[in-house]
Amino acid sequence: MDTNRLSKTIEEALNAQMTKEAHASQIYLSYASWASDKGFDGIANFLFRHANEERNHMMKVLEYILERGGKAKIVTIPAPDADPTSVQNCFEKVFQSEVDNTTAIYKLVKMSHDEQDWATWNFMQWFVKEQIEEETLAMNLLNKIKIAGGEKASGEALYALDRDLESAPDDAPSAEDATAANPI
Ligand SMILES: [Fe+2]
Ligand SMILES: [Fe+2]
Repeated sequence: MDTNRLSKTIEEALNAQMTKEAHASQIYLSYASWASDKGFDGIANFLFRHANEERNHMMKVLEYILERGGKAKIVTIPAPDADPTSVQNCFEKVFQSEVDNTTAIYKLVKMSHDEQDWATWNFMQWFVKEQIEEETLAMNLLNKIKIAGGEKASGEALYALDRDLESAPDDAPSAEDATAANPI
C-alpha cells in the first residue's frame, strides 16, 4: 500500500527546495568566511548565525517530506558563487539570493495550489512569511551600507557598521506581527 501523501511532482519540488535551503546555508557560510578573512568579525558573526537559520529551514523541509510519507533525497549541494568584492557587493548578493529563494517558494505554493495539496500549501505558508523577514533583513543590510557610503564607505564607517552587526538581531520583525500593544 502506498502511504506517500505527496505527488511525485510535489515530492521532487520539496526535495529541490530542501537542497536550495542547504545551498543558502553554504552561501552564508562562504560570505561569513570571506568577511572574517577581511577582518569584519561583526559581519562574519551575523552571517555565520544566519547560515544556521538556513540549515534549520533545510531540516524543516526534510522533516515535512518524511512526515508525509515521502523520501528526502540528500544530494550534492551546489558550490556558492565567487567571494564578494566588497561589503556592498556581499549584501547585494545576500539580497539576490533571498529573492531567488522566494521565487522558488512561490512556485511551490502555486504547484500545491494547482494540485489542491492543501497540506503542502499550508506548510509552505510558513516559508512565505519567513521570506518577508529574510528580505527585510537583507534590505536592512543594504540600507546600512548605503548610509555608510556604499562602495566608497570609509574605514571608519565600515568599522561602525561591523560593530553594529555584531549585536544585530537575527530576525527582522514582520510588519504583519505588529499589534496595538506591540507595534514593533
Ligand atoms: Fe531559508
Ligand atoms: Fe534566507
